[in-house]
Amino acid sequence: MTTIAIPKYSYSSILNDAAKIGWRVQDLIGADKPLDFTKPFLPEAIAHTQAISCLAPDEQLTLNHIRGNSYLHLFGLVEEFILPLVVNHVQFIGCDNIEAAQAYLGFAEEESKHIHLFRQFAAAFAAGFGFRCGVIGPPKAIADFVLQHSPLGVALVTLHIEWMSQQHFLDSVRNHHGESLDPQFCSLLKHHWQEEAQHARLDTLMVQDLAKTLDSAAIEAAIDDYIAIIQYLNEGLKAQVQLDIASLEQAIGRTLAATERDEIREIQELSYQKAFLGSGMTHPNFVQTVQDLSATGYARISAITKAFS
Ligand SMILES: [Fe+2]
Ligand SMILES: [Fe+2]
Repeated sequence: MTTIAIPKYSYSSILNDAAKIGWRVQDLIGADKPLDFTKPFLPEAIAHTQAISCLAPDEQLTLNHIRGNSYLHLFGLVEEFILPLVVNHVQFIGCDNIEAAQAYLGFAEEESKHIHLFRQFAAAFAAGFGFRCGVIGPPKAIADFVLQHSPLGVALVTLHIEWMSQQHFLDSVRNHHGESLDPQFCSLLKHHWQEEAQHARLDTLMVQDLAKTLDSAAIEAAIDDYIAIIQYLNEGLKAQVQLDIASLEQAIGRTLAATERDEIREIQELSYQKAFLGSGMTHPNFVQTVQDLSATGYARISAITKAFS
């Protein structure tokens, strides 16, 4: 057994906070709330399209929209392995702590709502953009790969992702440096974070619950699982960049030169890695939870963080 830090979050306070949030998918997207394709969907801090010198401003905006679409797809995709993780955890903990069971069931219900939300936004995107952009997947194959790892390894990836969504909310809504972004996308990131704020705290408790049953060797193995999943997701992000370039060529109606493709690939690979890997791995609350689990495990994660930030 491993000694775990005293939890700083409680199920009752998380349930109280969750009860204050009550939006529905149709409140955020629908025929009366179209996406505004004259504006960027994502802030420059996430999409990094304005640094691409070979693209004209209107082409940079189109790539930003393609990044918005892949954001919807990638978040919908990771939530397809988060949902079974949480459902399995409810079975693992049983009914002894009924507030915990209630909180995790609420978490699962919200995550299924988020999958629906991202799919509805993706449908609105396809209708406005004119065609469906290529995306990695299928989601089930990616979820199957991730879920073959230990529950603690998958819970650490989930903790990373849910704290990361706080950074995306801050970049889009709080610290967007005056950028005039599409209001529907900003609303998506804001409302998503409102519920992820509870999920991230539940992930912290889940990690601590799972770790309590493990010895130090099993915890190190779970950190190896976390790193293996992150490396796998990194390969997926690089594949997504190639699909984005193909979508961009189709949308702007010109074939890019090899040097232009290289410039876009280089900037966009680092952009995806910062947005989806580095921002989670360096989030102070993620770092604290991993350090509480294992100082050597954290050192192994920290060693690969530089490549993604
Ligand atoms: Fe979510
Ligand atoms: Fe979540």
